[in-house]
Amino acid sequence: MADTIDVLIPEEKINARIKELAERIDCDYAGKEIIFLCTLKGACFFACELAKRMTLPVFMEFIQAKSYEGKNSTGNLVMKLDVPEEAIAGKHVIIVEDVIDTGRTLSHVKQLILSRHPASLAVCSLLDKHECRVVPFEGDYIGFTIGDDFVVGYGLDWDQKYRNLPYVGIVR
Ligand code: HPA
Ligand code: MG
Repeated sequence: MADTIDVLIPEEKINARIKELAERIDCDYAGKEIIFLCTLKGACFFACELAKRMTLPVFMEFIQAKSYEGKNSTGNLVMKLDVPEEAIAGKHVIIVEDVIDTGRTLSHVKQLILSRHPASLAVCSLLDKHECRVVPFEGDYIGFTIGDDFVVGYGLDWDQKYRNLPYVGIVR
């Protein structure tokens, strides 16, 4: 039987918010070039839509991180796809995410990118599940703050399904 998905954030609302974020980033980085570090796979829809609405030059790079947590370890970052230091050093970098939840993987990714000496580093996420944090982490640009419901669409998946829904929804 087909899953039932309730719309949480409709497409028009996402589009309007992405436009606002693009305008804010354009303004904050006026006169600069930006590198979007898009975290695969979830953030690719959001990163492209955001880049399309910006007037500043945006360069696209892609990373894929996986964090393994052992019984007693705080997490071990494995980069399944990475970018070389030359793509980052001296550049204004914005990590583009689909959702910030525990903050664990993202804080490791942020440390790794910082070690490559960007001119500046910010994090932009379509969604923020702030109540799910297990480590302190604040994004710089947030589309929508949501509760801890499991959501799909606009890049977010459930077992790799539903990424291409044009809205964010909750699987019932
Ligand atoms: N949906 C899909 N992927 C996720 C979510 C979610 O709600 N939270 C963290 N990763
Ligand atoms: Mg993600």
